[in-house]
Amino acid sequence: MAADSAVPTITLNNGVEIPQLGFGVFQIPPEQTKDATLDAIQAGYRHIDTAEMYGNEQGVGEAVRASGIDRDEFFVTSKLNNGFHDPADALAAFEVTLGTLDIGHVDLFLMHWPLPGVLDYVETWKAMEKMYEGGKVRAIGVSNFKQHHLNRLLAETTVIPAVNQIEIHPYLAQDDMRAYDTEHEIATEAWSPIAQGLVLTDPVVERIARRVERSAAQVVLRWHLQRGDIVFPKSVTSSRIRENFALFDFELSDADVSDISALDKGQRTGPDPDVFNYIPS
Ligand SMILES: NC(=O)c1ccc[n+]([C@@H]2O[C@H](COP(=O)([O-])OP(=O)(O)OC[C@H]3O[C@@H](n4cnc5c(N)ncnc54)[C@H](OP(=O)(O)O)[C@@H]3O)[C@@H](O)[C@H]2O)c1
Repeated sequence: MAADSAVPTITLNNGVEIPQLGFGVFQIPPEQTKDATLDAIQAGYRHIDTAEMYGNEQGVGEAVRASGIDRDEFFVTSKLNNGFHDPADALAAFEVTLGTLDIGHVDLFLMHWPLPGVLDYVETWKAMEKMYEGGKVRAIGVSNFKQHHLNRLLAETTVIPAVNQIEIHPYLAQDDMRAYDTEHEIATEAWSPIAQGLVLTDPVVERIARRVERSAAQVVLRWHLQRGDIVFPKSVTSSRIRENFALFDFELSDADVSDISALDKGQRTGPDPDVFNYIPS
């Protein structure tokens, strides 16, 4: 079993350590999730990012339990689904996630989307503070929050989110949001770090990849790590799972990092959090 000792950790604002590189399981079918996650664990990943919305928390929990590795070596994140923002529903949904994962506790629990116009996310966050007080989650955070959403949490609630998980890749560099997070001691996590493959054929990325003799995916993931963000690329392909983990024996120059950052064109692949109000049926 490969050790993940090469993966640096980031210290969250409550002192909890999170591995900077993890494994994302969005769009992995439930019946494939246990095997794909076990493959990732075999490759060395110890940080796994799932969500109730993905329908595959059970497979993640099964893989963690079947791995034979001590639970405390893992960092498992899940997220509150959009249908459960009412405070009573949020607390109940968290209990369901705990039961479905069945790994004792959750390391990080996030509000998946702010859902403007559905229910006030400030009230939902107060319910998440109660989860945190309950001791079954080591850190709580948000996802897809913009500055104006976070301004309200910081002004009206007690616990500062430990992380903000947002879409970031070379075509959506999010430097203003990342700076805001840093200023408020909120760690930034980058979802869709390779934009689901979209950025891998960019000529600038390809040129750097040829020079450093790495794949385009490795170059983009390394760009995220050197900027200080937390990433969890998704793959169901064994060779790619390993490729995406082999990021710690090369470095990009400062010029490479700047050249990739300059590709930013504000291009989202996912919805804008200010208008996204989707509630799964
Ligand atoms: N909070 C949120 O709202 C939110 C939204 C989206 C995602 N996320 C999180 O972020 C994680 C990652 O984002 P994502 O799954 O959207 O996209 P991603 O990791 O940017 O890209 C995944 C896609 O790229 C392919 N791929 C992976 N490694 C590759 C490589 N080395 N070379 C070429 N292609 C490669 C995968 O194909 P194969 O699987 O076929 O190999 C898959 O189609 C998710 O799994 C989830 O945990 C969170």
